[in-house]
Amino acid sequence: MKIAIIGAGNLGLSIAKGLIVNNAFTTLYLTKRKIEELQEYEEYSKVTVTKDNREAIQNSDILVFAVQPMQMERILEEIKDQLTEKHVLISTVTGFKIAAMEAIVGRDQFIVRSMPNTAIAVGKSMTCLCSNEKGEKRIAIAEAIFNRLGTSIIIPENKMQAATVICASGVAFWMRLIRATTQGAVQLGFDAKDAQQLAMQTCLGASSLLIESGKHPEEEIDKVTTPRGCTIEGLNEMEHNGLSSSLIKGIQASFKKINTITTD
Ligand SMILES: NC(=O)c1ccc[n+]([C@@H]2O[C@H](COP(=O)([O-])OP(=O)(O)OC[C@H]3O[C@@H](n4cnc5c(N)ncnc54)[C@H](OP(=O)(O)O)[C@@H]3O)[C@@H](O)[C@H]2O)c1
Repeated sequence: MKIAIIGAGNLGLSIAKGLIVNNAFTTLYLTKRKIEELQEYEEYSKVTVTKDNREAIQNSDILVFAVQPMQMERILEEIKDQLTEKHVLISTVTGFKIAAMEAIVGRDQFIVRSMPNTAIAVGKSMTCLCSNEKGEKRIAIAEAIFNRLGTSIIIPENKMQAATVICASGVAFWMRLIRATTQGAVQLGFDAKDAQQLAMQTCLGASSLLIESGKHPEEEIDKVTTPRGCTIEGLNEMEHNGLSSSLIKGIQASFKKINTITTD
């Protein structure tokens, strides 16, 4: 695959690193205006660093756009006359709809929209993908890229806002739960470092149990809740205080807010 990452910032470089580690490209172009920040990437063979988006696009088939939303329109205008049948456009740009891309580059391009989360930096992103009608034929390319950097699923574009709440804001929700568990562990006598390790690894283990077994959470909960035992005592106390309810309400509030910022 001949890939160009237009906008090699935080997200663009995470994608680039995933591609480099997996040796998953024939050639890779990385673009940004301040290319001095990308010096270390010039040392890789088959990687070209440039300020020139048009050069990158001319020499690539897969175009990953990872710029800020306010930059996207201008960049698409700048490169649109260079697009051909071979190009697949993959946008990571939050809130920039497929219709807005089509309005600039035309409906006859392969367009895929993606919503990764910050865990992409450690190869564990939950990425949601959608495409225009033409892009359905090439969405497997985006799946191949993002599956090297975590897991991906294809969803309809009208669920992208909801996916942003669950997966992108979701990172913050889970971080807060880990922090709260850490605070509890400190109160039970662990020092802060050990407390955080216990919280993080238990969270990872719980998640891995579900991913690997495919089971419902309640099945795993049943295994650790002895009748009259300490786990059910704690769990019920948390629920009396609104654990599940507050999480669901928080997710709903976040979704309500995102819909006032952009519409999908
Ligand atoms: N970070 C995440 O995990 C994440 C998750 C989901 C979605 N997103 C979305 O992904 C996009 C990128 O996010 P980010 O956090 O990676 O932002 P970022 O670090 O600001 O990266 C954007 C990059 O675009 C470059 N750029 C600006 N104008 C350009 C131009 N004309 N040509 C080429 N490159 C240009 C900037 O570098 P110069 O100033 O040097 O040009 C910068 O390095 C955003 O739309 C964001 O909403 C990010």
